[in-house]
Amino acid sequence: MTNPLHIIILAAGKGVRMHSTLPKVLHKIGDKTLLAHVIEISATLQPECIHVVYGEDGELVKDSHRHLLVNTSINWIEQKERLGTGHAVQQALPYLPDEAEVLVLYGDVPLITSALLQNLLATSNTENTAVTLITTILENAAGYGRIIRNKNKDKNISAIIEDKDATPKQLKITEINSGILCTTAKLLQQYLPQLQSKNKQGEYYLTDVIAFSIADGLKVQSCVATDCIDVLGVNNKEQLAQLERHYQKRMVTQLMQQGATVLDPARLDVRGNVTVEQDVTFDVNVILAGEIIIGSNTTVGANCYLKNVVVGNNVDIRPYCVLEGVVIENNCVVGPFTRIRPQSHIASGAHVGNFVEIKNTYLGKDSKANHLSYLGDSSIGEKVNIGAGTITCNYDGANKYHTTIEDGAFIGSGCELIAPIKIGKNATIGAGSTLNHDAPAEKLTVARTPQVTIDNWQRPIKGQLKENTDAK
Ligand code: UD1
Ligand code: CA
Repeated sequence: MTNPLHIIILAAGKGVRMHSTLPKVLHKIGDKTLLAHVIEISATLQPECIHVVYGEDGELVKDSHRHLLVNTSINWIEQKERLGTGHAVQQALPYLPDEAEVLVLYGDVPLITSALLQNLLATSNTENTAVTLITTILENAAGYGRIIRNKNKDKNISAIIEDKDATPKQLKITEINSGILCTTAKLLQQYLPQLQSKNKQGEYYLTDVIAFSIADGLKVQSCVATDCIDVLGVNNKEQLAQLERHYQKRMVTQLMQQGATVLDPARLDVRGNVTVEQDVTFDVNVILAGEIIIGSNTTVGANCYLKNVVVGNNVDIRPYCVLEGVVIENNCVVGPFTRIRPQSHIASGAHVGNFVEIKNTYLGKDSKANHLSYLGDSSIGEKVNIGAGTITCNYDGANKYHTTIEDGAFIGSGCELIAPIKIGKNATIGAGSTLNHDAPAEKLTVARTPQVTIDNWQRPIKGQLKENTDAK
């Protein structure tokens, strides 16, 4: 039987260099907090428990992650004083079963991968290994703890020297400590109480646990991250932006591996979970947010924003659309310049064109609303034609009302349909009508003042006041 895995995520850092009122781990990459990234990756290892060590603004940090759906229990532990990484891990010590295997992760290292951690656990499970850490090579290692290796053939790790404690010669070392390590609860129970803060930063260093292990002749192993991005931390807004780019590159690569055609991988942003079938094409400057599913052979034009959208096959989404909370069935044409708001459904073969806003509306099969319309709180049947400039007047300033338009109806241009209202099957509504009663099926209904022509009418002339008028 293997030992239960416990993961400790260190997240008590203030993040002073972020120059922000938000705690560091609440900053986002791909619209997901740094901490949520680390918790989700942790959960893939199926640990018995994830312990999050938080600092100031702990309630905010906890509240921001309550909605996270992970099937592992999360134990929130407060570190009242921020006395160093060793001190932070010590806060979790009372919650670790004696036989636990312990993985320490950082809340501000969000792009760590499940594969690298599996690798770390595998190395850690080799015989007699006391501690295993992830190291990597960085051209610019400033700020990181440096890995010192002995001169023997085995080149084993002999020490870790913090940047602030290092000599000029040691500062030239490019192999760095990622900070992520794997060990046992027993070893931490033995060494953490012995930590001292006699260093330049006056902190209790977790890395001293490695120094103790080495001094006691225990085996310290390393696992080298070949892609250093996996272990890069976020300390300032510049690094946050750099990691956002790396993250986007990974997400877009995954989409291309699923069969998407991406015209410029640097100009597609994924801020959620996206599933695409084959031959989906994304033009430039598309943002995909929330939960997105797109069927095969669908095209998303330039400059579109999609959030929580399910799109079928062979759909043509033309440029500059903002689509949120909508299901679009097969063979539809949407845009350019369409806005669809939540709880909407566009049935197969329907067309929605420029400057059309749709909200909480079902637009039936093969129906068309091609120009300049507002369709809100409506149920629209099949093969309906919504003329340019049609507005469903769904709101009286206090309440919202429903509009029903049955199959085959033809709404002329420039109509106002004052809800609640029903337009019957195959009804025709004359252009420019303002309707406040239901219109019967199969008939023409017109509601507009008859056209009159006034003789002898004089158009006002600039600078000349008319007599007996209310000229302003
Ligand atoms: C640490 C390592 C260093 C490594 C570097 C990698 C030590 C002594 N040094 O240094 O070898 O190269 O990370 O980024 O461990 N934290 C707490 N409570 C604390 C202190 C820190 O929760 O009291 C958390 C921080 O929020 C952060 C992580 O621990 O997520 C690392 O802390 P930080 O102060 O950034 O450590 P470094 O000095 O960078
Ligand atoms: Ca750091």
